[in-house]
Amino acid sequence: MTALVIAVDGPAAAGKGTLARRLADALSLPYLDTGLLYRAVGRRLLDGGADPRDAEAATAQARALTPADLARNDLRGPAADMAASAVAAIPAVRAALLDWQRDFGRQHGAVLDGRDIGTVVFPDAPVKLFVSASPEERARRRWLELRGRGVAAELAQVEAEMRARDAQDSGRSVAPLKPAADATLIDTTSLDADAAFETALALVRARIPLDSTARTGLPAPP
Ligand code: CDP
Ligand code: CDP
Repeated sequence: MTALVIAVDGPAAAGKGTLARRLADALSLPYLDTGLLYRAVGRRLLDGGADPRDAEAATAQARALTPADLARNDLRGPAADMAASAVAAIPAVRAALLDWQRDFGRQHGAVLDGRDIGTVVFPDAPVKLFVSASPEERARRRWLELRGRGVAAELAQVEAEMRARDAQDSGRSVAPLKPAADATLIDTTSLDADAAFETALALVRARIPLDSTARTGLPAPP
């Protein structure tokens, strides 16, 4: 029996995590936010006063990552965002994190969200979703999140930083942000989280043969 892996990729604040978490719940699958791995490596470098673009230092930190690093509460925010994106452009950092992600998905199946799940980590995943939304809407969502956490920020600055990070993620030579050739695109610009979830669940049901629903734990259609 092959474990069911669902790949959810897309740019910043597109709604990947919200969607992936809900799909995982509905399908009784483990969930992995792979962005946390890069965020944690970036944070370890910032802690040590190192430059997140320093390939040797970043690779050493990626190899030293522990589960406790992923549970830190300072992995979000502008500095952590840019540090994550900087370390994520270093091939040896990505290589150091690859087997861990694959092992996570292979054990019991999983929903994983990130940038390269459908292209590199699980190129054979039977379901690949590429979640997007307009840059303005994504910036608005991230800005609202920051406000909700009591962080004062200018919307225009949030949008500028987000666009810069997306450009860096799309333009890097290793595992750039891009939809897999066989991914299904979901534009959530005018979809709330419920509507995005319903759209995605219908796509999953269409991709997974009905006779495998028992072993995948896929809920029967209403
Ligand atoms: O994981 P990613 O950075 O792609 O985005 P997220 O953390 O899932 O979503 C960013 C914010 O947008 C959250 O506050 C979500 O509640 C919100 N959201 C939304 O307004 N509409 C959606 N369709 C999905 C998420
Ligand atoms: O939540 P948001 O979409 O803003 O970011 P994230 O998913 O937590 O990812 C943070 C950064 O990690 C991204 O900007 C990417 O540079 C990197 N990343 C990656 O390269 N590959 C992944 N599979 C996941 C994240």
